[in-house]
Amino acid sequence: MLFLGGLFAACNPNPPVNADGSPDAERLYTIHCAACHKPDGTGGISGAKNLVTTKLIESEIAKVIAKGQGDMMPFESILKPEEIEAVAAFVHDFKY
Ligand code: HEC
Repeated sequence: MLFLGGLFAACNPNPPVNADGSPDAERLYTIHCAACHKPDGTGGISGAKNLVTTKLIESEIAKVIAKGQGDMMPFESILKPEEIEAVAAFVHDFKY
């Protein structure tokens, strides 16, 4: 795990963090979620749900990200807790 982390840092001179060190939710979403949920959150790829019209509240979204749901894999071993929180907030903002 440490080794992988080092590898990731070595290959990625631009980690997905903001200038203040907080997780860059938009880039995390682009890297980890957009392939299935589309950049705008409307989803549809391999059954991914529409995140614009989802009825879930932010804490429920964070839970789906951490634990996975149906064909969506869990992200709790891929993303740090603060990254999951940031992406959940970002996804929640898709709703209008
Ligand atoms: C491999 C494709 C894939 C990836 C990558 C993926 N998802 Fe999903 N996601 C799905 C699928 C499929 C579902 C529907 C699961 C079900 O209920 O059967 C889903 C469901 C969800 C839901 C639940 C929506 C609802 O209304 O029930 C949320 C929230 C969500 N995804 C967010 C994310 C976020 C945030 C990421 C990135 C961290 C992500 N997903 C990455 C495929 C994916």
